[in-house]
Amino acid sequence: MEAISSKHLLTNLLLIFASSFSTLCANTGIERPHQEANTVFIRTSCSSTTYPRLCYSSLVSHAELIQTNRVLLTGAALNVTLASAKSTAAVVSMMAKRQGLKPREVAAMKDCVEVLSDSVDELRRSIDGMIHLRTSNFEMTMSDLQTWVSAALTDENTCTDGFQESPTAATIGGTNTKTRVRGLVVQVAQLTSNALALINQLANQG
Ligand SMILES: *[C@@H]1O[C@H](CO)[C@@H](O)[C@H](O)[C@H]1NC(C)=O
Repeated sequence: MEAISSKHLLTNLLLIFASSFSTLCANTGIERPHQEANTVFIRTSCSSTTYPRLCYSSLVSHAELIQTNRVLLTGAALNVTLASAKSTAAVVSMMAKRQGLKPREVAAMKDCVEVLSDSVDELRRSIDGMIHLRTSNFEMTMSDLQTWVSAALTDENTCTDGFQESPTAATIGGTNTKTRVRGLVVQVAQLTSNALALINQLANQG
């Protein structure tokens, strides 16, 4: 009986020791310095964009994929921008169908959806260009990417211009529709501007 319980005690002590050891390893393990290098890389690359904090927060969840690779970083920035442009176009398109909007406002929203879908096309083309970057002429592809992403940014700005604050802004259910649309599209434009800055960085540094 006593022999069994001391054996148990030893087993328990070993288990406790083993689990603290593995916790220690998890906290100071091999993976961590890499992860830190990856997030530092994102922060550093984002520091030269127009909206560095948005750049970092939108990309940090992809740190493991990006590692410290500028092509992957730029690709991820374009992917995040495309996803945001697509979902914003869908939201604005739904908002345009709401009751109580003035015809002028419906028209502005529809115009906005149209230019946003152009910007989605331009971003898609850019992502395709990024995917084939290794097997294509680097300078030419980077120049195309600069053209397409600049065009996407211009389209998004066209939309926000149509939703400038004005005293006659429609208020639905306590939410100012113009302000909401504008806020969403401004976010897409900021992501696009950041992606363009990362493309320019990549083009200059090769
Ligand atoms: C971006 O999206 C494309 C298409 O879905 C994908 O093939 C690519 O791996 C993504 N790139 C990055 C860096 O996430």
